[in-house]
Amino acid sequence: MAFSRATFLLAALLAALLVVTSVQGSGQDEDALDRESLQEDVSLDNDHAVSYKGYKLLSVAPVTKRQRKSVIRLAGKQGVQFWLAQRNATGSFVAQILVAPGAVARVTRRLKDKGVNFKIVIQDLQNAINNEVTSLRDTDAIESGRPFVWDKFHRLSAIYAYMHQVARQHPELAEVKTIGKSTEGRDLLVLKLGRKSQSVKPAMWIDGGVHAREWISPAAVTYIIRELQKDTGLLNKMDFYLMPVANPDGYEYSHTKDRLWRKTRSMHRAANATKTALKRSRPCYGVDANRNWDSHWGQRAASMDPCSNNYQGPHPFSEPETKAASEFILRLAPVAYLSLHSYSQLWLMPWGHSDEPSRHDLQLRKVSLKAVEAIQDVSGHTYQTGSINTVLYPISGSSLDWAHEKAGIRYAFLVELGDTGDYGFVLPASEIEPTGKEMLAAVREVAKAAIEDAKSK
Ligand SMILES: *[C@@H]1O[C@H](CO)[C@@H](O)[C@H](O)[C@H]1NC(C)=O
Ligand SMILES: *[C@@H]1O[C@H](CO)[C@@H](O)[C@H](O)[C@H]1NC(C)=O
Repeated sequence: MAFSRATFLLAALLAALLVVTSVQGSGQDEDALDRESLQEDVSLDNDHAVSYKGYKLLSVAPVTKRQRKSVIRLAGKQGVQFWLAQRNATGSFVAQILVAPGAVARVTRRLKDKGVNFKIVIQDLQNAINNEVTSLRDTDAIESGRPFVWDKFHRLSAIYAYMHQVARQHPELAEVKTIGKSTEGRDLLVLKLGRKSQSVKPAMWIDGGVHAREWISPAAVTYIIRELQKDTGLLNKMDFYLMPVANPDGYEYSHTKDRLWRKTRSMHRAANATKTALKRSRPCYGVDANRNWDSHWGQRAASMDPCSNNYQGPHPFSEPETKAASEFILRLAPVAYLSLHSYSQLWLMPWGHSDEPSRHDLQLRKVSLKAVEAIQDVSGHTYQTGSINTVLYPISGSSLDWAHEKAGIRYAFLVELGDTGDYGFVLPASEIEPTGKEMLAAVREVAKAAIEDAKSK
């Protein structure tokens, strides 16, 4: 019983978060082969809440190419889930993998056999999850006027209640807009912050919670809301459109069923059954909301398998969440775009689909540098910066590429917030304020550059 249940859970969890690639140096072709197999990782669905008791998070630092390949080969293996795979600031390949209890002995033996350095950073993921401070029943409290707090992760209803509270308290500068509905019928809410004026001001879009499990991201957006509403000087010059939870169905699911849920919650069957899809006759849930945008959709490093954690969807904008946001953004025509993800402290620029630089590369770099300096000043954290494709790996159908290419937003950035791997997705709530604070400083830098730019036009 225990064993078969464990096996089922293992199957339920497998999902390589990241598509691994070699960023530099030789061996790209071999890595590309491995990358194909990464796309077959699955995230099946569960009727019951998932427990991560005994799951360990390993930090792995392969040095040689052979070691690196042996690490990459772990992707897709039963009981192994990649949380991170990238080059760090000094160019070393680093990975973080979550290993199920039944696979720990096998995986650590393999790493030892290959002489790969690793350390266990989380001994028991369920313990870490239990230690996250979440507040489940604070919606009513907020609606009746009690203050929202930033030392807890909130459920969707509380975040929405907070947005309405801000709008009620500051009718002259705040307004909640419903831009559509999710697959499961939840409202998609955006908060506009900007002092009402006759003239049209440049606008900036900021979203969070595209990937459900990245809880620090919606939390950071609510912190930015808290601070921006006080900055009337800035709100005279710019309008901000903030969407803390871009994927509300997934966000709620990550609270109620599976803390590591990433995708939306629509249901899909394989269009053209791949060999893995054939093995599974049932449909799977969710589309990767950062592979579903109509920009080079389906070209590279996104999955056609509905069960993959990187499933791009049956067609661009198949998801009501991405469709609604894209239509709203097109009408808004903002001059700056910021999408907050987690984790690993990266400040990323276009492109994801190509290693060619954007034709605005120089300006993007300049603003990125300002942003990461501002972050450094506030928190001492060093964010790496560069294009998604060069710092991470190629992705297609990303919101960032779409914003830059199709919506024509020059200052478009995607941020991977903290941490750098001590907690990964399961960051303690005590990190909300520091993260919000450093991001607010970066937002101000982007706003400054975009306002200057808009003025000179
Ligand atoms: C990058 O990773 C290597 C190997 O783990 C480590 O020795 C180095 O300190 C890391 N550099 C940074 C900047 O984190
Ligand atoms: C499915 O297969 C058909 C015919 O082989 C092809 O035209 C189509 O593009 C495929 N669809 C996807 C999503 O790959």
